[in-house]
Amino acid sequence: MTAPDIKTALPGPKAKALIDRDARAVSPSYTRPYPLAMARGEGAVVEDVDGNRFLDFAAGIAVSSSGHSHPDVVKAIVDQAHRFLHMSGTDFYYEPQVRLAEVMGEIVPIAGPVRSFFGNSGAEAVEAALKLARYTSGRQYTIAFLGGFHGRTMGALSATASKAIQRRGFGPLTPGFYHAPYAECYRCPLRLTPDTCEAECLGFIEDQILLHLVTPDEVAAILVEPIQGEGGYLVPPQQFIDRLKAIAGRHGMFLIVDEVQSGMGRTGKMFASEHFGLQADIVTVAKGIASGMPLGLCSAKADIMSWPPGTHASTFGGNPVSCAAALATIDLLRGSLMANAAAIGARLMDGLRALQAKHPLVGDVRGKGLMIGIELVRDRRTKERATSERDALVQAMFRRGVLLLGAGKNAIRLCPPLVVSPAQADDVIRLLDEALGEVAAGGR
Ligand SMILES: Cc1ncc(COP(=O)(O)O)c(C=O)c1O
Repeated sequence: MTAPDIKTALPGPKAKALIDRDARAVSPSYTRPYPLAMARGEGAVVEDVDGNRFLDFAAGIAVSSSGHSHPDVVKAIVDQAHRFLHMSGTDFYYEPQVRLAEVMGEIVPIAGPVRSFFGNSGAEAVEAALKLARYTSGRQYTIAFLGGFHGRTMGALSATASKAIQRRGFGPLTPGFYHAPYAECYRCPLRLTPDTCEAECLGFIEDQILLHLVTPDEVAAILVEPIQGEGGYLVPPQQFIDRLKAIAGRHGMFLIVDEVQSGMGRTGKMFASEHFGLQADIVTVAKGIASGMPLGLCSAKADIMSWPPGTHASTFGGNPVSCAAALATIDLLRGSLMANAAAIGARLMDGLRALQAKHPLVGDVRGKGLMIGIELVRDRRTKERATSERDALVQAMFRRGVLLLGAGKNAIRLCPPLVVSPAQADDVIRLLDEALGEVAAGGR
């Protein structure tokens, strides 16, 4: 399928009818940025119900790693579906779950033997990690980061500090969470640059949290995204990761690395942690692992994950069809897709740097592989956040047939399927150039 190819006004008549039905029957809590009603997908292309075709640079929120309906993944799903759909790994054994746990032991950035717990989503993976850290350490508290996103269930939401609206009206949340500033180097509150700082933002943990709020021996874990996703695709400097690891090590806290968005080849390596030489105690994975089938994993050092039968489980977690999809996905990532993510990511980054030189609206461009953030500002000196311009840019790109998502208050993320081609990347840069010009000129 070729894209972009926009044939109707957006939304077209069939999309509009579906959206009207949705408004009556579906929870209004979802955040739909534009009226895209999907009919089918192939690779990095999505066709809507009116036959319009879009380049998908959102991948269902960084999920469709091997592209839409990759034949190898579909075959693995169909083959498994013919054998059996469900048996519950909570009570019984089956090969795809055991095999996937073995493969996770080979690929997750954890030293030594690894065990994995199976859930259905990123939030469930994080819940498992938080519970495991508390259970095994016998400590109650977790330190997480401002701007971090870890999911919407009560425990994961208590760790999440992304947008206040996500927490509003749900309090009291689970007690036992403190938040420290993340390395938002483009807006460093200490006015330092990565070359001159030693991750002073992390001083907040030892100089404030551990001094005034909680003693280290009560902190079970530090929970961190190695690249902050929903917070704006923020890439921390190496010293941030090193200092974090040192703090956790010094106080015997587990380091939980949330790779839900940054993992599974997206950054050009299997896990973003690998860019920093980071080894964790516990790692959470979901989104891209099964190319869109629901699956969330919490992997940990085997001696940390030694909780006894009955402590934690899930009826659907580790669904055999999802596990089969994950095994096929990992084969594809190891085959050529990780390398493609690195190559196309570099190509996009070159194109974006050129756009940054041309368009004053582009304040910062950052990322690894196909996890790329573009931060829009009204003034490069004051860095005033260009939030309405960001929203307008997302709309302008939708009208041009490109699916994008925002991240943080004023950034756009590029997170296409890892099968994206050089020509598709070039098209998106060309269309971004046009759309940035339109937004700067005050266009819709
Ligand atoms: C880093 C991170 N952790 C956890 C989650 C939660 O995943 P889910 O929406 O599958 O519950 C997300 C979702 O965006 C995420 O980006």
